[in-house]
Formats: sequence, C-alpha cells, structure tokens
Amino acid sequence: MSIKKILGTALAVASILGFAASAEAKTTVRISHTQIETHPDHIGFVAFKNFVESKAGDKYDVRIFPNSSLGANEKVLELVKMNSVQFLSVSTANIESFNKKYAVFSVPFLFTSESNFEKFITDPEVLAELGSDAQKDGFRPLGAFTAGTRNFYSKTPINTVDDLKGKKFRVQAGPTNVKMMEAFGAAATPMSFGEVYSALQQGVIDGAENNELALTDQKHGEVCKYFSYDGHQMCPDLIVASEKFLSKLSDEDRKLFEDAAKEAQKAEFEAWHKRIAEAKEQAKKMGVTFIDVDANAFREKVLPLHQQLLNENPAMKAMYEKASAFDASNNK
Ligand code: GCU
Repeated sequence: MSIKKILGTALAVASILGFAASAEAKTTVRISHTQIETHPDHIGFVAFKNFVESKAGDKYDVRIFPNSSLGANEKVLELVKMNSVQFLSVSTANIESFNKKYAVFSVPFLFTSESNFEKFITDPEVLAELGSDAQKDGFRPLGAFTAGTRNFYSKTPINTVDDLKGKKFRVQAGPTNVKMMEAFGAAATPMSFGEVYSALQQGVIDGAENNELALTDQKHGEVCKYFSYDGHQMCPDLIVASEKFLSKLSDEDRKLFEDAAKEAQKAEFEAWHKRIAEAKEQAKKMGVTFIDVDANAFREKVLPLHQQLLNENPAMKAMYEKASAFDASNNK
C-alpha cells in the first residue's frame, strides 16, 4: 500500500472515530407530545429546549417530536418507562391505566373555577405527591401544562344536560370517563386523540369533549358546529420524565431538567390564555356556535358519582381530598 493510501485510510478511520466521539459526547433528549407546533404545549417545550441547550448545549441535544409522531400517548408512556423517550406531555386521563391515583383529574367538576385548578396543578407539593410512586411507575411528573376546561361539542346543539341523552361521545381513555358519560345518560367511546376527526366525520360518534383548541388545531370544528360551555372536567397535561433517565443524572443536571420543566410550564401557561381567545375567534369563522349552558345542571347530574368513584378507586382518595379542600379554601 502506498503511503498516500495508508494515510488516506488512517484519516478516514480517524474521522469516523472522531465523528463517533463527538456524537457520543452529546446525549439526545427526546420529547414527545400530541399537539401541532403552534399549540401552547409545543411552545412550552421550545422554552424547555432553549433553557437546557443554553446552559448545557455541549452535553444535551434536545429534540421535540410533535403530532404524536412517536406514537399515541399511552404507547409513548411505555417508551418513557424504558428511557427510549425522556419526556412526554400527557393528559392525566392517559396515565390512569398506569397508576390509578391520576384518575382524580377525570372526576367531573372537581374544581369550581379554572383559576383554582391552575393554582392546584402548579403547586410543587401536588406534583411531588403525584410522583411519590415514581420509582414503581417508571415516570415522574416535573411540571404541568394547563389544558383549560373540557366541554361537550357536537353536530347538534347541546343546550341542556338532557340533550346528551342517548348520544355517543368520544372520551379520553380510562374507566372514570366511561362512568362519567353513563352518569350523564350518554354513551362513551374511548379512543386516542388522533382518531377523533375521522370518527366524527364517519359518524361513528356524535360528538366529543375537549377544550377549544380541538376545534381549530385538530379541525373538529369542520364537523361539529356546536360547542357548549359546561366545563365538566379540567385535566392537566403533565410533563413526565423517565425515572430511569433522571436517576442517572448528577444532582446538577437533574436540577437543570427540573428547572427546564418549570420554564416550560411558565411559557405554556402564558401561551395558553392568548391562544384560547384566538382559537375561539378562529372557530367562529369555521361556523362554530359557542353555547353558554347552565353548568350547574350538568354538575348536579354527576355529583353523586364522586362517592361511587372514590369507593371504586381508593388510590385517588388522598388527592381528591386535597383538591377539594384546596378548592373550598380558595373560594372563601
Ligand atoms: C387535549 C389534551 C391532550 C389530550 C387530548 C385528548 O388536547 O391537551 O393531552 O390527549 O385533549 O382529548 O386526547
């Protein structure tokens, strides 16, 4: 072999090794969520990425995967447990099948105001208590995103609670949601978020329940022209981290990711209130009518369900009592 060839080969090998070394020097941190890129959850995660990379960009490469591109939330939560995905924003309803205490947020009319809900889910003590089984669960909530209030929307107007009777509504996963719809006198069809548009279009369901962004971002407003403000649920999207990932970090780096989750939370809340007002206008232009119903009638219909849900799921009792006491004391 000529010297030139030997040198060439050596250089090629060195560059491959060099490349591998520099690729290895950075840890890829994968974040998954189910929303589009203008959604507040995404904006929150951009703040997370910027925070981590501005402090430790030489160590971490943070990649955000929107639109459920890594899979539906319950599937991705399995990947979080395995540390294939490090962070995920996921509705508490989707965590219910992993740990039953998270079902507490699916209890209808748990809070009497959106501001009480917001204060509660951002209380560090609440997050710590939710995460007390993290070693067993394989994931830990580090922050919360608001997802506003959940309301019914449908192809025909829901003016009173009796208008729900006999109709089929898509709900998020979890037995609590199914029981809630039964208590409302309707039928529940649990399915993942990404399947709802075509189910509405094909007439598999009569309506669904969510915040206003489902009408615009997911285009449900193309099919459902009536959105009724009954406010039956407030479920946060939690920023959950892989416990396996967290447990391998130094104290300093663990704090970096905890602080990044707080930054994300702050950015998401700010974006949320602005975006909801815009989305409402956008939906009106799509032809959606917003209906102010007598929310108390909806509330009274399902309040007796609280005790039944608590009897059936004692795992959520402590958090239910904490939330109820918090709500009552903030209403004084
Ligand atoms: C909201 C919430 C999501 C959830 C979705 C749903 O968009 O932010 O986390 O998955 O509702 O109804 O499935």
